[in-house]
Amino acid sequence: MSALSLYEHTRSQLEQLCVVVGTDPSQAVNLLSDLLGPAGSRPVRQPSAWPSNVADDETPIEFSVACNESERPTLRILGEALGWQPSAAANLAAAHRFLGVAAHRFNLSMSRFDLVQDLFVTGQPQGPFSLWHSMVFRNGRPPEFKVYFNPEVKGAHSAPLLVAEALNRLGLAGAYQATVDHGVRPGELGRADRLAFFALDLHDGPESRVKVYLTHHGADARDAVRAASAVHGIDAAEFAEFCVAAGGSTGPFDGRPLVSSYTFIEGTEGPAGYSLYVPIRSYVSNDEEARERVVALLDRYRHDTTDIDRAIAAVARRPLSDGVGLIAHVSLRLGLPRPGVTVYLSSEAYRVCPPRQVVAAAHSAASHH
Ligand code: TRP
Repeated sequence: MSALSLYEHTRSQLEQLCVVVGTDPSQAVNLLSDLLGPAGSRPVRQPSAWPSNVADDETPIEFSVACNESERPTLRILGEALGWQPSAAANLAAAHRFLGVAAHRFNLSMSRFDLVQDLFVTGQPQGPFSLWHSMVFRNGRPPEFKVYFNPEVKGAHSAPLLVAEALNRLGLAGAYQATVDHGVRPGELGRADRLAFFALDLHDGPESRVKVYLTHHGADARDAVRAASAVHGIDAAEFAEFCVAAGGSTGPFDGRPLVSSYTFIEGTEGPAGYSLYVPIRSYVSNDEEARERVVALLDRYRHDTTDIDRAIAAVARRPLSDGVGLIAHVSLRLGLPRPGVTVYLSSEAYRVCPPRQVVAAAHSAASHH
């Protein structure tokens, strides 16, 4: 069993990932340390200090590698700041502390955050989290930051109001209606289709984004195509093929839900971009199978595939066929600001999920009897 601390475990993965994408590890490692705070020093053989929903095994960190058309892949970290004695309130305080430090060090723009953050604060927070962070490391540039709010923090019934009001305050008046018109099946808002995340870029460049995420329980490829059709000028049908290539069928996806996100950019009418996240780990029996699908996808979108194998090797601490969930999601992004494929990699600091029979495989095995 590993004697490493949570920080040591995730740091070694991060350092190797930085080498793969060609970014300076010292800055990324410092941010990892700030984000984990005191929780980082706990040995990973002890139970996690907080049941973070960032990853299945409660690791409060998830890596991802975003492949773009014309640049080298970029490395990203999604994370949840944890308090000294983690609790919903202590973690939110830690998240604000982390943001304060990062805002100061990297001169982040907090104006849009300040415009909406009170909407997502309550004394009795519900659901799995209040505030998450992501950091993007692009070659030779300062890291970019994003925050994620939980629209269901005041309960599922309040999520539509919170998201609509937040979009209004940000000057994106038509955005909410466009989201529900395409991204929600009739009568399913707050039921099978849920507002899962509300995210902001913490800079005010022209590409600064607001993103609205929906989870679609029991949805199929047609639902993804309909959701994508909210964006003008992209080929929404691509997402059906993506479902098949990543998820192995046209659905319905009854395991972990498909996830949509809409990207809004100021001055653009309607959503400028759409992403579909397929939780591939629910639809494969092990990570070797997930890797094969991901490599085929990258190939199809003409991305280099050697980088992703190096990224997987940087994170994996076991043979790929020995578990499932290292490759957690794979997403396809079309529209602005840049199209591409992103692969989400779990740290597995606390646990590896054993390989399993997928439903489809179980059916074909049964039919031989
Ligand atoms: N672990 C959560 C989930 O799978 C949240 C999450 C982490 C997520 N990374 C993600 C959701 C990428 C969608 C896409 O839902």
